[in-house]
Amino acid sequence: MQIFSDNINTLRAQISKWKEDGNTIGFAPTMGNLHDGHLSLVRNLKKNGAKKIAVSIFVNPRQFGLSEDFHQYPRTLKNDMALLEKEGVDLVFCPEVNLIYPSHINSEIIIDNPKLMNDLCGRKRPGHFNGVLLVVNKLFNILQPDIAIFGQKDYQQFILIKNMVENLFIEVDLILSPIIRESNGLALSSRNNYLSYENKIMATEIYASLVKVKDKLDKKNDDITQIIQLEVDRLNSIGFKVEYLELRNLDNLEVCNKAEFEKKKYILLIAIKLGDTRLIDNLIL
Ligand code: PAF
Repeated sequence: MQIFSDNINTLRAQISKWKEDGNTIGFAPTMGNLHDGHLSLVRNLKKNGAKKIAVSIFVNPRQFGLSEDFHQYPRTLKNDMALLEKEGVDLVFCPEVNLIYPSHINSEIIIDNPKLMNDLCGRKRPGHFNGVLLVVNKLFNILQPDIAIFGQKDYQQFILIKNMVENLFIEVDLILSPIIRESNGLALSSRNNYLSYENKIMATEIYASLVKVKDKLDKKNDDITQIIQLEVDRLNSIGFKVEYLELRNLDNLEVCNKAEFEKKKYILLIAIKLGDTRLIDNLIL
């Protein structure tokens, strides 16, 4: 496994060589603190035909708000490397912040997709998705992957990246990788590490709640708003702070149009706070 941290030119030379030799380059961007969810990204890249796998580990400061957990975010590079090596990853890119955001460049670009960016998670995390798109764009430019994979748990992020790729004619195929859950349904996330033992048990309610709403909607009860509101009230009453629980169009995350409910594909998305920890999850209908 080759590790690059400070030299973009040698990294690019390696990727070009692999491409010249006919290899498809698969890329999984991460912020490290890897768990089975991340490892499934690597496995799914292979299943989708990637012959060389590149993973980046970079805790991107631009996607954290001032009051968010950038400094607290778990950094476990040594363990991450061991996991990736075992998984058969070919290349790891783990740059320092000043390589990605050189201080001498003071004319920084902002990538914006205002309507969707300020919706759902963006309502409580202004600037978060600008930071995500900026870093993903930079990473795509550095690594030039043929295929890039992102986890379904961050579905809004995936749709925004898809919009960016289409709008900016970036030559990469995107893959959405299914959510990996603990046996009790809790979606794997590095932020689960912040939860106390009791809260981790309580957090299993999040997925259970999505399944419950989905079942009710499957029964074609037409009052979607009421079903969702009842569930939000229930979650709030047992100690969660629900930021949103919404049914959205799967393709573009537009608000669910009742008239089209039978025809289109939908996704239920939730963001909640449990103590100081913010968790998200979703379920495709
Ligand atoms: O999903 C993540 O872990 C991050 O948002 C990403 C895509 C690696 C960009 O920093």
